[in-house]
Parts: sequence; structure tokens; C-alpha cells
Amino acid sequence: MRIDILTLFPHMFSGPFDESIVKRAIDNDIVNIVLHNLRDWGLGKHKTVDDYPFGGGSGMVMKPEPLFEAVETIKAQDSDSSAPVILLTPQGRLFNQKIAAELAKNSRLIFVCGHYEGVDERVREHLATDEISIGDYVLTGGELAAMVVIDAVIRQLPGVLGSEESASDESHAAGLLEYPQYTRPQSYRGWEVPQVLISGNHAQIAKWRREQSILRTFMRRPDLLDKANLSAQERKSVAKGAVTRFD
Ligand code: 6GU
Repeated sequence: MRIDILTLFPHMFSGPFDESIVKRAIDNDIVNIVLHNLRDWGLGKHKTVDDYPFGGGSGMVMKPEPLFEAVETIKAQDSDSSAPVILLTPQGRLFNQKIAAELAKNSRLIFVCGHYEGVDERVREHLATDEISIGDYVLTGGELAAMVVIDAVIRQLPGVLGSEESASDESHAAGLLEYPQYTRPQSYRGWEVPQVLISGNHAQIAKWRREQSILRTFMRRPDLLDKANLSAQERKSVAKGAVTRFD
């Protein structure tokens, strides 16, 4: 996968992409991340990238020309010109694991990091093919959001996670939160690891984990349960549990 990032602050990306799993994916040529400084497409001798909003109001707006010209230049660097152009903005669709999996299917992604009060509306209308937000709060710019989205996408790519880090049974994979995990020591400050996990009975362990996932999702994120993959029997147990719990 090739990922192009258009930003006014390319240095912001050095830390997160230089460590751990993302670094390994880059070193193994599974992903190629190409950073572009939007200032390079700025206008005039001051390389201007922003301007006052028509109609007045506070803050600055990112001008359309640098963004369009940057995306056009970057697209031309590759024969595949169908790459999604993703604008990071608090007005975008709310990012989740399903969107991460969707994005991971592309061989190329282009991210545009908005800043200031926003970008000229013509960028949304005629340049971006997708708009993503990472949550209902306001960041100073799209860079941190791009890092979040890119991290979640990269760990979905084939060969990025080792078998020990499998992406299939973790939180959100089945629309459920993950079951509780324990490691040694078996007893710590008098707090014991659940007996079933040291029983060696793999069927019992799988059953316990499944129940814990469902229970935990019910307690913490009931909003996720509607869309989760539950059997009819599991749905009945949840309904029964709900009655006893709140009676
Ligand atoms: Cl994508 N950008 C900004 N500036 N703030 C955000 C966001 C994005 N997602 C949530 N808050």
C-alpha cells in the first residue's frame, strides 16, 4: 500500500510512524508512507496556503489551489489514479473498525489534513472523495486524526501482525469488546487469575471468553450489541441477564 499525506506539519508524523508495528510494516515494504508539505504548493513568494473567509468571521480558511495542485501532482506519480482522497475533518463520517477494514483494501490512499477554521468548500465538493472524523471533539488539525486512521489501517494489512498479535479476536473485530486477559503471575497481591484459564480445558476457555466478551460489551457499550454477531441463544441470555441485573 502507498499512503500519501498532505499536511502543513509533516514533522508531526515522525514519532508515531517510527516505532513498533507501523515501523516494522514500513521496514518490510508492506506500506510506503509519503509525506508532502502543502507549503510547497503555496502561492506567491510567501507560499500562502490560507486566506480570510469570504463573508467575514474569525479564523483562516485553507485556499483551494495548493490542495488541488498537490493532489493532482501526487496522483500523477502513480498509474493508479483511482485512489480515495480522504479529508480529515470533524464533519466527516465517524471512523470505526469497519471503515479501517474498508480502507485497507485499497492499494493507495491519499490523506488531506485540514487546518485553521477549515478548508475551502470546493475541496470537499470536488477534490475529496471521503471525509472522516475520529470523534466528537475538536483537534487543532487533521494530522492526529490521520495518524489514528493510518495506524488502524496499517495493522489490518496482510503480514503486518504476527500470529501472536492476530487481529481476528481483538476488541471490535466481531463487534464485541475483548474478553479479560491475564498473564503471569497466577496470583498477584492476592488477586487470582480466573480458574478456568489455567484449567487447560480449551472448550471451557473459549466459552468463558465468549461470555465475558458479551457481558463486557453489554455493561460498557450496549450500543454495540445491536450490530454484534450474536446467536439467537446468546441474544436470549443477554435479554435474561438484563432482567436479573436491573430487577
Ligand atoms: Cl479529522 N480533525 C479535527 N480538526 N478535529 C477532529 C477530527 C478531525 N476528528 C475529530 N476531531
